[in-house]
Amino acid sequence: MTPSSTPFSTLIRTASHEQHVEAETSTFMSDLLGGRLGVDAYARYTEQLWFVYEALESGARELSGDPVAGPFIQPELMRLASLERDLAHLRGPGWRDGATALPATVEYAERVAECARTWPGGYVAHHYTRYLGDLSGGQIIRGTAEKTWGFARKGDGVRFYVFEDIGNPAAFKRGYRELLDALPADDLEKQRVVAECRRAFALNTGVFRALGEEFRISA
Ligand code: HEM
Repeated sequence: MTPSSTPFSTLIRTASHEQHVEAETSTFMSDLLGGRLGVDAYARYTEQLWFVYEALESGARELSGDPVAGPFIQPELMRLASLERDLAHLRGPGWRDGATALPATVEYAERVAECARTWPGGYVAHHYTRYLGDLSGGQIIRGTAEKTWGFARKGDGVRFYVFEDIGNPAAFKRGYRELLDALPADDLEKQRVVAECRRAFALNTGVFRALGEEFRISA
């Protein structure tokens, strides 16, 4: 299949498949989901997500009229308020004062902010990598977090993973893939977006690696 005959949603998923496996099976994620880490590791990870979504969502409003990125900006996806509730639960009301971004998180958030400012196609790559992932594997993470650390089902601590305003995630994802397939971009630009998606996955893996170093399990 040539790139132009392959739906873009298939292209971007296929191109990031290997890195998806890498992210999923990273030491930190495996330890976290295997119940081998304490709630402090989960809280530290949630903190890192806050910095990433701050970059992703503070750039969103200005992009809402953009022909490429605009259709993807949908209020039901917004995660920042949920992350803030989770962090208040995990760290207490003063969570913001104690929250620090790891260098890998700074790198990730800066790249997202740069795309939001200068390159709508690149922003779409980051948008896809985060939100479609949250709507998919995020649901597995939620279930495990509830069981492992005793959060109320879909309650404080895991609100980030709960899309209150998306009744049917499978249907939403289908609609999202249609938006990807209709991306107003030529083949070269689509290749650039795919490359940025790979970069987005690599940036996520970098954050996992740093978290893995911070929360090393002693054998
Ligand atoms: C342990 C961690 C993870 C698990 C268990 C997991 C699991 C899954 C599963 C089961 C799907 C398929 C859903 C479907 O076909 O509708 C999926 C899709 C996806 N995941 Fe993950 N995932 C994890 C981590 C990540 C990470 C770290 C990222 C990137 C930040 C990510 C990004 C994505 C994306 C973008 C999709 C959508 C693929 C597409 O259909 O286009 N995932 N994930």
